[in-house]
Amino acid sequence: MPDSKYSPLPPWQRTDYCGTLRAADEGRDVALLGWVASRRDHGRLIFIDLRDREGIVQLVFNPEHAAAAHTVAEKARSEYYIAARGKVVRRSEGTVNAELPTGEIEVTVRECEILNTSPVPPFPIGEGEMAAEELRLKNRYLDLRRPEMLRNLRTRHRALKAVRDYLDESGFIEVETPILWKSTPEGARDYLVPSRVNPGKFYALPQSPQLLKQLLMMSGFDRYYQVARCFRDEDLRANRQPEFTQIDLEMTCPRPEDVMSVAEGMIAAAYRATLGIDIAPPFPRLAYADAMERFGSDKPDMRFGMELRNLTGAFAGTTFKVFADVIARGECIYAITLPGAHQLSRRELDEMAEALRSRHGLGLAWAKIAQEGWQGPIAKHLGDAEKARAAEAMALKAGDTLLMVAGDANKVRPVLGDLRLALGEKFTMAARDERRFLWVVDFPLFEYSAEEKRLVAVNHPFTAPHPDDLEMLESEPLKARALAYDMVLNGQELGGGSIRIHNRDLQLKVMDLLGLTREEAIDRFGFLLDALTYGAPPHGGCAFGADRLAMVLCGTDSIRDVIAFPKTQKAVDLMSGAPSEVSPRQLKELGIKVMA
Ligand code: AMO
Repeated sequence: MPDSKYSPLPPWQRTDYCGTLRAADEGRDVALLGWVASRRDHGRLIFIDLRDREGIVQLVFNPEHAAAAHTVAEKARSEYYIAARGKVVRRSEGTVNAELPTGEIEVTVRECEILNTSPVPPFPIGEGEMAAEELRLKNRYLDLRRPEMLRNLRTRHRALKAVRDYLDESGFIEVETPILWKSTPEGARDYLVPSRVNPGKFYALPQSPQLLKQLLMMSGFDRYYQVARCFRDEDLRANRQPEFTQIDLEMTCPRPEDVMSVAEGMIAAAYRATLGIDIAPPFPRLAYADAMERFGSDKPDMRFGMELRNLTGAFAGTTFKVFADVIARGECIYAITLPGAHQLSRRELDEMAEALRSRHGLGLAWAKIAQEGWQGPIAKHLGDAEKARAAEAMALKAGDTLLMVAGDANKVRPVLGDLRLALGEKFTMAARDERRFLWVVDFPLFEYSAEEKRLVAVNHPFTAPHPDDLEMLESEPLKARALAYDMVLNGQELGGGSIRIHNRDLQLKVMDLLGLTREEAIDRFGFLLDALTYGAPPHGGCAFGADRLAMVLCGTDSIRDVIAFPKTQKAVDLMSGAPSEVSPRQLKELGIKVMA
């Protein structure tokens, strides 16, 4: 017997989305398709809230006017998918729902069919409902039905559409680059893909299209962009996924300010298109050295103060042994002030000190500034003159708490920077809706990796040294600056880039400083080094985290809220179970043996 529930074709096409109906539609005959969001049986009348991607509309079933439809409505349950036909009528006075955009009207149903049924879903799907994330990720297809998730993904779509339009209008050509490729160093581990036809050989999934976009400049595209999938096997955080999307672009012969201006225009276009907000570029710039000195971070949250100060000078000649030893070693004392409006208990201060000691091996010297003088365990060890100098440098007032950490500046400043952020969060110092964009510029080209016992690139090995610092490459490489820039918003890096090396000799020199032998450089990057010899033009660009941009536009702190099918902190897709084991036959074909 034919049964309509097996028909893949709906009984009628929709005339409207549920959520778009308004008072102006009164009197129209409409055909709707959607999920039962809720059903209320009032004895004679049955009410169903029908939901589709545009919202909810109320359906009314009256047995006296449409007995068959009413019988169908009696069987409908939450998340059944149904088709309904009827007339839009105004709700009577007193039954208008001001909370719903469709709340002035309802649809009196003439015909109704159930197209599919549903068990009770594992969590409620309505607006504002929030189940445990594990359950949501396991049933992501249901989670994505929730209005919040739909809204987020539509905001992401709007933002990327605006970005594409903006870049197209600015002369950028979208070019797709391979996913199965060769390792591109961006500082993380690679995801590898075995090649069946080349046994024992592997592709690497791109950590970014960095080298490919540089090659496109050498090929003459002049301006390239791509909404590019990138893969990095690294420790995950709230704003990191193993697989993420970059808005990646590259230009021929730009100055840093040209790239920054394109990037600002692009981000401004995304804000206009999604939130209707003018973010008013150009954004202020802050040198990396100043960012570290004032905020202990290369991505400072500028929405609140509590800046770091170097108090080494104030304590010169101190008899307080901890500080005196540090100064004798040529190290520093840095401090932040917690303003009097916010107080930490003795216990909280002790816990903070213990956390610093166990995590970083650093002590926390603190003092509460009272009318009578400094209070706290170190107060008695410090002389009046040095207290006065510190008080002046920090502009201390009664009620303030002074928090000091002594040691190597490169270690102490990030630790105090994190403490600043933690206190800012604890006392809600940053306004959620404030936006403080900035560019961090003049990054160092290299840093020393104690783990690898060699210089490593702060950005990546293709970043050009600052032309004023070329002389330093040999003599003081750690002092050389890069022509690199990062866009930062409220403590988060949204994107970054650099001007690249376009000269083969300079590229080889930098690779040499990074510890690659000539043979290794040619083996890994021979194609780039060759391409550089054929009239490679100067070039530079940047890449932005599309997911991070979507996060800030949607006002969410979790990257998983703006990705349709994300992975957990352990890089697992809870819905499909990926990654999973594969069959012995597949492994054999690939010539792979699993050891564990
Ligand atoms: P970088 O490594 O700084 O630069 O990456 C650029 C931007 O990509 C985003 N991003 C991530 N987003 C989510 N999850 C991750 N795991 C992740 N890693 C990075 C960030 C970051 O600012 N090729 C260079 C760019 C260039 O020089 O042009 C690059 O990839 O928002």
